[in-house]
Amino acid sequence: MGRAVQFGAWVSAEWETMRTLYEAHADVPAPISRTDNCILMTHVGDEEESAPVLANVSLERDEAEATLRRIMKNVELFLANDLVHADLSAFNILCWDGVPTIIDLPQAVDARTNPNALMLLERDLRNVYKYFSRYGVAADPARIANDLWRMYKRGRL
Ligand SMILES: Nc1ncnc2c1ncn2[C@@H]1O[C@H](COP(=O)(O)OP(=O)(O)OP(=O)(O)O)[C@@H](O)[C@H]1O
Ligand SMILES: [Mg+2]
Repeated sequence: MGRAVQFGAWVSAEWETMRTLYEAHADVPAPISRTDNCILMTHVGDEEESAPVLANVSLERDEAEATLRRIMKNVELFLANDLVHADLSAFNILCWDGVPTIIDLPQAVDARTNPNALMLLERDLRNVYKYFSRYGVAADPARIANDLWRMYKRGRL
């Protein structure tokens, strides 16, 4: 009983996160329906295959730049909606037709209340930029996280 309730609460949080982000036009799967222990969402890919995760994809240089820009727009959009993914990496971003889709949202945290939100944002960005370093992208994820956080706190996102 306790466990069932726990699972329900977990799915409920992920469902709310997915709905919020989808309604904000973030690149997440569209939530379709939910039960106590699972969420039905749109499948990214086609009839034959699912979209690969970014970690297993090799991009052209200009595609890489566009994909990184789009991922960063999403990170901003998450934060503008008081959310930090908290497990973002090239393993939780699908890539299909050059468009990234961010998945695996159950552990997303509320930036208004979670004392670790900035640290988690920084870790997310470190993981993302680590993947893009293979394309020659050099950046300081800690500085970018701090800049984003400052804008968020000033209500400028
Ligand atoms: N909407 C989707 N469309 C297509 N494939 C998906 C979708 N959501 C998840 N997947 C596939 O399922 C895998 C696991 O999903 P996810 O990252 O959400 O769960 P997880 O808890 O990390 O599971 P695991 O530990 O098995 O990776 C993804 O790497 C991806 O291949
Ligand atoms: Mg995952």
